[in-house]
Amino acid sequence: MTRSDVHDIEQTPLRPFGRLMTATDAGADLRDIAPATLEQWTIESKVLVLRGFPLLEKEDLVEYCSRWGEILTWDFGAVLDLVIQEDPKNYLFSRTDAPFHWDGAFAKAAPRYFLFQCVRAPRPGGGGETVFSDSSAVLRRAGEDLVRQWASTEITYRTDKVGYYGGETVSPLLAEHSATGETIMRYGEPIDPERYLNPVWVDVNGMSEVDAAAFKEDLRDRLHDPEVCYAHEWRDGDIVAVDNQALLHGRNAFQDDSSRHLQRIQIL
Ligand SMILES: [Fe+2]
Repeated sequence: MTRSDVHDIEQTPLRPFGRLMTATDAGADLRDIAPATLEQWTIESKVLVLRGFPLLEKEDLVEYCSRWGEILTWDFGAVLDLVIQEDPKNYLFSRTDAPFHWDGAFAKAAPRYFLFQCVRAPRPGGGGETVFSDSSAVLRRAGEDLVRQWASTEITYRTDKVGYYGGETVSPLLAEHSATGETIMRYGEPIDPERYLNPVWVDVNGMSEVDAAAFKEDLRDRLHDPEVCYAHEWRDGDIVAVDNQALLHGRNAFQDDSSRHLQRIQIL
């Protein structure tokens, strides 16, 4: 553990990537961290978990993040309440897992970062962990030929607008991180209509259905390899900042009656 000179903060590395920063003084406040510093920490860590910082009211969260960058807004506004609903129309609000994706595939632009506040964590052992996959690690572990194939691959995503997003979008599989210049992967796993509400159809452009199925299966195995994944077990009061370019993310299913309330804001 090392101490930060910015605050009384203890830093602990997470495995295989990520950083936990715990405030050790009672008066800690997220707003005392300059947004530029938070951005730098987020880029360095890819996923940054802040503990011991009281959650902000929604308006204060929006105000703070507006100093970081432009906020992506939706029909519901800037802050999404991610809660389990009794009669959900979209899988994000159900108890199932959420396959890997990047945020903003169907938005006017993908956010560079997003930030969660955990209002209520699932009970211990209750599932609902947010899982992050480090796509640059996936790229480092793949052979040159495969990376070359990925570099020329475009994917079409299609979903009905049942929740707050939807439409059809085409995206190259690989992209460049706007801050680090690193090659990153942009990929959303298929959301199978047999298993999930509000499915997403994923087509690999120019590929036969048989080849595309093998391609997607291979990608799934690589992205879910525990060596490249960090699963975050939520605790009440966690604030988590995420590099939406470096990482893909998803969620583990909830057990039985376990539930969770997160608030999410996205920064362009
Ligand atoms: Fe997401």
